[in-house]
Formats: sequence, structure tokens, C-alpha cells
Amino acid sequence: MRQNAPVFDFKIQSRDGRARVGHFETPRGVVTTPMFMPVGTQGTVKGVSAQELLDIRSQMILANTYHLMLRPGESLVAAHGGLPGFTAYPGPFLTDSGGFQVMSLGHMRKITEEGVTFKSHLDGGLVELSPERSVAVQEALGADVIMAFDECPPFPAERDYILRSLERTVRWLDRCLTVKSRPEQALFAIVQGGIHLDLRERSLELTLPFDTPGFAIGGLAVGESKAEMYPAVAFTAARLPEARPRYLMGVGHPEDLIAGIAVGVDMFDCVYPTRTGRFGYALTDDGRLNLNSSAPRSELRPIDENCDCYACRHYTRAYLAHLVKAEEMLGPRMLSLHNLRYLHRLVERAREAIASQSLAGWAQTWGERYFKGAI
Ligand code: GUN
Ligand code: ZN
Repeated sequence: MRQNAPVFDFKIQSRDGRARVGHFETPRGVVTTPMFMPVGTQGTVKGVSAQELLDIRSQMILANTYHLMLRPGESLVAAHGGLPGFTAYPGPFLTDSGGFQVMSLGHMRKITEEGVTFKSHLDGGLVELSPERSVAVQEALGADVIMAFDECPPFPAERDYILRSLERTVRWLDRCLTVKSRPEQALFAIVQGGIHLDLRERSLELTLPFDTPGFAIGGLAVGESKAEMYPAVAFTAARLPEARPRYLMGVGHPEDLIAGIAVGVDMFDCVYPTRTGRFGYALTDDGRLNLNSSAPRSELRPIDENCDCYACRHYTRAYLAHLVKAEEMLGPRMLSLHNLRYLHRLVERAREAIASQSLAGWAQTWGERYFKGAI
């Protein structure tokens, strides 16, 4: 029997052009959109505790099937009652299906109609992942939203390959829905097609009839330019159903969130805020502040006066720059926390702008300041 979430109800409160503010209910709480998901690949958002994620008002955490099935194995997570019990984060989770991670991390992979065979990046052991196995692992991990097992072709890829791949991804979606057995989990389909609008159209034509409770835009942010990515996002978002949340996978930078929101994207995830934080960078309205450079070492003000994160309420730029220079682990931890809060606040501000019908003007003002200050 096909099980999708009958209760996963996405409601839209306000609109501004193609942008919208909405919310959906999951078994572990309400999620307000547009929203950004911190990436907790291995069941941890690198350097940030569950309490800190709650403090900065994260709404939903992304975890990865590929990593967790290899280590520690999904049964150990299931023995804790799923991801919330395992990680102590009590709110909603979304798990990615593994298809994308196999592409980026697996070695010697072989893709057939059946699924993917690859060598584990941990011990080189042979592992198989299929639509059925991905759904079984995601059911054991127990996220609120699970993703269809798909193939994300590399960039660049042959048009013909992308076409055959997206058609296979649709057959895999069908198999995912056939074996799915937990009605409280919502399974999102993923639209592929690379940067080719006609292939996006084909993927949409084949995927939309499944009427899943949400749809993802996949296959982007894999090496193409922003000038190639943005039209593919706008084209796809415009053709996804109004009444379903739209999730742009693996994106992105602050300007990508704003560009995506403007064309009707509701959900995002990216390692950018935590990764750039680990490298010593802090996101601000004046661009990205490099705490490895000498200027911040004497600045007795916070990263951002308007930020309510722990780092901005307690520490000066000088102290944080000192931590980075001294390679103290609190430095990257606090920068990760701040950067996540920055993106959460950015989408909160976008939601307010949408509610007051001022998104375009707000986005313009934000962009002028952000790019003037960018280093
Ligand atoms: N993360 C970023 N892009 C993708 C994609 O195309 N598919 C999946 N499953 N995850 C992604
Ligand atoms: Zn801050």
C-alpha cells in the first residue's frame, strides 16, 4: 500500500509576487517557511549542540542516509527511538536519501536500474543503495520528512544522460512510494534536469502526477554558475504546485536564499554557514567578515550589533579573531552558531518583507549593502 502523509498540510499566509510565507505541520512541530535547515550530516550540526540549535531558532535539521547507514548504522539510531533520541534535538528532521552523497563521496560507483553500488568512503567495503533500501533506512532514522532516492548527475553531464537519469529517478520515486510504510513521514519527490529547462519540464511532467506532500528542486549547486542555476530554479519553482512546499536542495549562500525566496522557494539547506564558520568567516549585512585578517583583531564590537546569537551578545570581534588565530575550538564553534543564526534571521526578515509586501525593495537594499562590503 502507498503511504504518504495525509496530514502534512501546507498553508500559505501571505504572498508577495511569487514569494510566499507559509507553514506546515510535522509530528515534531510546526515549520514556518521560507526556512533554512542546518546540515547535520552525521547526526550533528558540526560544533553546535541541540540546545544551541533551539536557541538560534532552527526549525528543522537535515541528516544524511548515506553517512548514518554506514556509521553508526541505522539500527543504532532506531534503538534511540530515531534521530531526536539519538541527537537530543527534539524538533523536526529531514533526511536526504543518499543518492547525492553516493555521487559526491562514493568511489567506483555503478548505477543500474536496480540502484547504486559503491565503495564506502570509510572502509572501502561494497555497499548497495536502492530506492527500497533508502526508504528502509530513512524509516529507521525516523525523520519527519524523507526524500525520494534520486540520481543527481554531475556537472557538466551529457544532455542525453541527464534525460535517461531523470526518467530513472521517476521510476525510483515510484518504487520509494511503493515500499514506504510509515504514514507519519512525508516523502518529497525530487525534480532533476540540470540546467536544461526542457529537461526540467520533462522531469516535472513525470514527477508532478505523484502528488507528494512536497517537491524538491535537485541537481543544482553542483558546479554550474549562478547565471545558469537561477533560471533553472525560477523555471522549476513556477511550475510546482502552489499548495506544496518547494525545497531547493544544497543551496546556499545568503544571496541564493533571497533569489530563491523571490521566485517561490520555501526551504533550503547548505553546509555553507558552518563550513565558512570553521574557516574563520562570519556572515554580516556588510558581507563576509574574515576573522583571519588583522582588522578584526582590534575591534571591540560584536560581529553584528543586531544579531541575538550567543557569540554576538557576549564576544567582541577581537576576542573571536583571537580564538581563530590561536586555533581554539570555541572560535569555529561560535562562528558556526552566528552564521546559522544569520541565515535564520535572513529568512525571518524575508518573511516579514513578504508579509508587508516589500520583498523586492528589501532584497535590493540588502544586496547593495552585502556586496559593497563583501571581501
Ligand atoms: N542535495 C543537493 N542536491 C541534491 C539532489 O539533487 N538530490 C539529493 N538527493 N540531494 C541533493
Ligand atoms: Zn551573531
